[in-house]
Amino acid sequence: MQARLALTQVRQLTKTVSLARNEAGVSYLVVERDNSEAIISLYGAHLIHYAHARQPWLWLSQSAKLDGTRPIRGGVPLCWPWFGPSPERVGLGKPQHGFARTSTWTLDGISEEADNTLLHLSLRDNAQTLATWPHPFELELDVRVGDELTMMLTTRNTGSTPLVYSGALHSYLQTQAPELVKLAGLGSRYIDRLQDGANIEQSGFTLDKAVDRTYTAPSAHIIDIETGHTSLKLDNHQADSVVVWNPWKEGAATMADFDDDGWKEMICVETAITDPAGITVDPDEEHTFGFILSQKA
Ligand code: BG6
Repeated sequence: MQARLALTQVRQLTKTVSLARNEAGVSYLVVERDNSEAIISLYGAHLIHYAHARQPWLWLSQSAKLDGTRPIRGGVPLCWPWFGPSPERVGLGKPQHGFARTSTWTLDGISEEADNTLLHLSLRDNAQTLATWPHPFELELDVRVGDELTMMLTTRNTGSTPLVYSGALHSYLQTQAPELVKLAGLGSRYIDRLQDGANIEQSGFTLDKAVDRTYTAPSAHIIDIETGHTSLKLDNHQADSVVVWNPWKEGAATMADFDDDGWKEMICVETAITDPAGITVDPDEEHTFGFILSQKA
C-alpha cells in the first residue's frame, strides 16, 4: 500500500508509527503492527487504509486524489459539522459533508498500548473554518489500531453559544462482489435518497442496484457485515443512523475519482448522525460518536 501511495518516510515517531509524505507534500501517519496496519492522511484526518492479517477492510479508489486538493475517495472520510448538503441552519450551498475532511489536522500524540496503537488528532476553528461556519470548536479524533479498528470523534464547544452538528464516519468497506455482500442489523426503516427521500419500511438487504439510504432505526449496537472476504461487525456508539451507499456503475461513471469498476468491490456503511435537528453541544460541553469495527467471532 505504501508503494502504491508513493510515500517516503520522514521519520519514525514511535515503535509502530512513522511519519511519511507523498509527492504532493501531504503528510501521512503509517502504523505497522504485527497483525494490523493503517495509514492516516493528516489532510482530513482521513484513515485511508486498515488491514488485519494482511486483509484490507477498507476500500480506497485507485483514482482517489491524494494531493490535498479534494476529499479522498475511500477509507473513512469524516463528515462534519454536517452530513450531506449543508442544512438550512448553516446556510445552503456550503461544501457537501462539511469541511473536516478537507482541513489539515494536527497530530497531538500517540499512545503505544499493549495490544493497540492509539493516535490522537485534532482540529480547531481557524480563519478558514470560521468563514464557512461561525463556531469556535475543538474536534478530536481517536483512532485505535489493533485487532479491532476504533474511531471516535469528539466535538467540544469552545464558544459561548450552543453548537449544533451532524456528521458521519463515512466508512468505505472493501468487498469481493456485490452478490456476496450481506448486511444485518440495519433495521427496517430507511429514507431513500434515490426515491426523493421517501420513507420506506422494508427489512432485509440485497446489493443489486445503486443504494443511498439512511437507516433511521438500526439495531442498538451491532451491524453484521459479510464482505465476501470476511465477516465484520460494526458497533456504533452514539450515532442515530447508518447510511448505506453504493453508486453502482452509472453513479461511479459520473465521478472522476471513482474507478469505473470500483462499485463492484465496495460498500459504504456509515456511522452517522443525520437527524435534521442535529446534536446540540452546550458551551464547554462535548459529544462523542464513533465505531468499533471488528472481525465476527
Ligand atoms: C453518502 C451520501 O454518504 O456520500 C451520498 O449518502 C453521497 O448521497 C456520498 O453521494 C458521497 O459523497 P461525496 O461528497 O463524497 O461524493
